[in-house]
Amino acid sequence: PMPGPVLAIESSCDETACAILSASGECLAQRVVSQDGHADFGGVVPEIAARAHLALLPGLVQATLQDAGLTPQQVGLIAASTGPGLIGGLIVGSGFAKGMALALGKPFVAVNHVEAHALTARLPGLVPGGAAFPYLLLLVSGGHCQCIAVEGVGRYRKLGGTIDDAAGEAFDKVAKMLGLGWPGGPALEKLAREGDPTAIPLPRPLMGREGCDFSFSGLKTAIAQKLAPYGQAPLPRQFAADLAASFQQAVADVVANRMEHALRMMPEARLLVAAGGVAANTVLRARLEDVAARHGLQFAAPPLRLCTDNAVMVGWAALETCREAAERGLPQPDDAALRPRPRW
Ligand code: KG4
Ligand code: ZN
Repeated sequence: PMPGPVLAIESSCDETACAILSASGECLAQRVVSQDGHADFGGVVPEIAARAHLALLPGLVQATLQDAGLTPQQVGLIAASTGPGLIGGLIVGSGFAKGMALALGKPFVAVNHVEAHALTARLPGLVPGGAAFPYLLLLVSGGHCQCIAVEGVGRYRKLGGTIDDAAGEAFDKVAKMLGLGWPGGPALEKLAREGDPTAIPLPRPLMGREGCDFSFSGLKTAIAQKLAPYGQAPLPRQFAADLAASFQQAVADVVANRMEHALRMMPEARLLVAAGGVAANTVLRARLEDVAARHGLQFAAPPLRLCTDNAVMVGWAALETCREAAERGLPQPDDAALRPRPRW
């Protein structure tokens, strides 16, 4: 039997989030605070993030319980992202969750943040017919860039990943060079709509190469070279838009090619799932849909609020882990002794 509702906490980067799911995975309440205070620095500052998690969590957890109409005693299980991520935030979030679990006499489940992203597609009602194992996952965000064969709960095979920047990091850095705000991905996509994606020739790093690793730093360097002649002078708007569109096209070409290769490494896949903030990009999404269609695969991308960091996915991964343990006749997890692992 599944323990009652799960209360989950996410604090591995700059989102402070809490969610409560019923034992069957229905979301009863969820809140996400995307921390401000980082934009001035052009990236997430770990120390600021950790302090903000600490300041935000008590009120956020209380409010989420209220939204769900539950008392803390009615929660059956507490879960938290315990890695990978920024160590300060992980300590705050998992320490908070463990403290709650201890005070309430409930089990604590340590959730791997990447596993939570990987299992999100299996949330009830997300993928028509349900996301059955095995499926191919492309996880592309500011912090992650990986191709994963998802074979079962706790059974993942990394097929490839970035050898330098994450895709979102590349979007953010190029956006910064173009004088756009942070996070840069959405701003760059908007500007790219006014541009010609074939206007400026750019490299396609690793395209056609064996395997499905990614590389984006060469693309970033190529953009810097195109911008160099302008020095500190303002960029002509059309040139900036053409550059944005050409960059986006290069990323989409590369990612589509890498996924073709990933499918060769995982011919049993029937479903392609894209997750992470960059999966919000409409040009990239269209290309991935095209790859899936040509291989006779179903394509799914969870809605953006579940693609980016959130606590619903953490609660869901905890429930899946409990169900898997029950099905195998193993004891229910209680990870109170597990320490945060920044490189888990
Ligand atoms: O998943 P996410 O919210 O946070 C983590 O990094 O974990 O992803 C944020 C990243 C940022 O780098 C942002 O620039 C990028 O996703 N992003 C986009 C778009 N929306 C967000 N990149 C390209 N196109 C977009 N529409
Ligand atoms: Zn994440």
